[in-house]
Amino acid sequence: MKKPILYMAPIQGITNCVYRNAYSLLFDGYDFAVTPFIRSCAVTSNTCTALQDVFPQSNDTRFGLIPQILSNTPSDFISMAKALFGLGYKTVNLNLGCPIKQIRNKRRGAGMLPFPDEIMRMLNTIIPAIPNQLSIKVRLGSENNREFIDLVPLLNDLPLKEIIIHPRIGRQMYEGEVDLTAFAEILSLSKHAIIYSGDIDSPATFKLLVSRFPDIRGWMIGRGGITNPFLPEQIKKLRGGTAQDKLNRFINFHDEIFNAYQKTLSKPVFITNKMKELWKYWAKTFAGGDKLFKAISRTRSVDKYLVLVKEYFDSKPEMSKVKA
Ligand SMILES: Cc1cc2nc3c(=O)[nH]c(=O)nc-3n(C[C@H](O)[C@H](O)[C@H](O)COP(=O)(O)O)c2cc1C
Repeated sequence: MKKPILYMAPIQGITNCVYRNAYSLLFDGYDFAVTPFIRSCAVTSNTCTALQDVFPQSNDTRFGLIPQILSNTPSDFISMAKALFGLGYKTVNLNLGCPIKQIRNKRRGAGMLPFPDEIMRMLNTIIPAIPNQLSIKVRLGSENNREFIDLVPLLNDLPLKEIIIHPRIGRQMYEGEVDLTAFAEILSLSKHAIIYSGDIDSPATFKLLVSRFPDIRGWMIGRGGITNPFLPEQIKKLRGGTAQDKLNRFINFHDEIFNAYQKTLSKPVFITNKMKELWKYWAKTFAGGDKLFKAISRTRSVDKYLVLVKEYFDSKPEMSKVKA
């Protein structure tokens, strides 16, 4: 099997610069990360705070970074892409997949997919106007799984860097099955490099997908990689280590993230909220992690949080998900 190209998926609220930097310090395996979406606005300078998650001074990773923009307004997208180019980003990604109802209702994210003319108008306007290469991230549709497929032949004539596909429809949010039949149809129709995104949660799932789609350009890992941060290393067969080594690495990862939030967030409750978001996933990393999650959920105190987590790590919990 050739060496896979792995992308860290954008997960709003989680895979921000704090997470990415800590990840890159302690784990291997990702080649690229696409950032959580930045809402487009008219940007007059590349110091605009909307771009703070991608400021070069806040990002120190060993993988490439692709900023993602959520937009249905070509002029805003263009000004933001240009500012990002000024910050060194040679590729930007357009979000055509966000399933949140309020966003879809405004014809943004997956909400643009039922309007192919609008998408083509937008792409034909922005592509010649931006200095960056354009990558797009899509779903199969907003309401049905034919919306994007019908667009694929039209996209073949455009110079896209890649198409990242999460084969669900917007209405599904993140539930239900991924539609691999529709995905296969897109693969057969598209001339572009395709990146697959959806439900890769173990080396075994990854292997199955590779055997079904051997010619894919790359693979994106989201929730499965948060629950098991060792997953990209396991897929690429990098590093090893005993269970204790792995637990120590995980604890260091936790501490890096916690310390970064403690430095940057102004109120204790903001810090505990951020850590709770992560523990929604990490609770599944460990055998019996839900008990800790429940206890953490009840506290707004940073000191109490730290005591709970220290006690838990001192009990040397088994990382059951990591073994899978
Ligand atoms: C809480 C959450 C936030 C997400 N935020 C984004 C986002 O900002 N931009 C985006 O393109 N996709 C976003 N996604 C979708 C993921 O990038 C990914 O495509 C999807 O979760 C399927 O992959 P997975 O099963 O490996 O997680 C988000 C998913 C979740 C669960």
